[in-house]
Amino acid sequence: MKFFIDTANLAQIKEAQALGVLDGVTTNPSLMAKEGISGKENILQHYRDICELVDGDVSAEVIATDFENMVKEGEELAALNPQIVVKLPMIADGVKACKYFSDKGIKTNVTLVFSVGQALLAAKAGATYMSPFLGRLDDVSTDGLHLISEIRHIYDNYGFETQILSASVRHTMHVINCAKIGSDVMTGPLSSITGLLSHPLTDSGLAKFLEDYKKGN
Ligand code: G3P
Repeated sequence: MKFFIDTANLAQIKEAQALGVLDGVTTNPSLMAKEGISGKENILQHYRDICELVDGDVSAEVIATDFENMVKEGEELAALNPQIVVKLPMIADGVKACKYFSDKGIKTNVTLVFSVGQALLAAKAGATYMSPFLGRLDDVSTDGLHLISEIRHIYDNYGFETQILSASVRHTMHVINCAKIGSDVMTGPLSSITGLLSHPLTDSGLAKFLEDYKKGN
C-alpha cells in the first residue's frame, strides 16, 4: 500500500519523506489555505516546492468547476512537474475532464467520492486515483471502510486499474483497516503515519536491551 501525506505543510512533508516510507502527497484548497498559501503564483510555487521534497505523485486540485476551465487549469498544473496529478471533483464536468486528461496520459485523482456509483464513474473515466473520503463518512455515522471494501470488490470484478486512494484518513486504525481491505493508497496526516511506530513493548524492550548491554560493557 502506498502512503501519501495529506498536507501542504512543508515541514511535515519533509519529516515523512525523511522516514523513508512516503510515496506521495495530496493537497486540497483547504490544506493550502491552512498554510496561508493564497494567490495563483504562490500556489503554483508551493506545488513546485512540494515536488522538490518528494519523489512520488503530488495531487494538485483545480478550482474551476466547468469543463473548459478545469482543462485549462489542469494543463497548467500538469506542466509544473511530471509528478503532478490533476485533482478533479466528482461532478459531471470533473468526470469529463478526467476522461480528457486520461486520454492525454495526464495523471488524475477524482476527489470527494462518497458512493460506489461515483467510484465506478471515476474508473470508467480512466482516473489514475479515486479518493473516497473515509473520515467524513464516519463523521455522519456512515461506515467509510464499508464503502472502500465495496469499491475494492467492484474494481476487482472488472480489473479496473484506477487506484483506490483512501482519503480523509484520520488515525492509525484507518490506515490498518484500509490495508486489510486492499486499498491501493492511503492519504492521511503525519500522525496517522508516525503513530504506526508506537508500541510500549518496543520502548520497554529497547530500554532493557540497552541496560543489559551497559551491564556487560
Ligand atoms: O484527502 C482528503 C482530506 O483532505 C479530507 O480530510 O480530515 O478534512 O476529512 P478531512
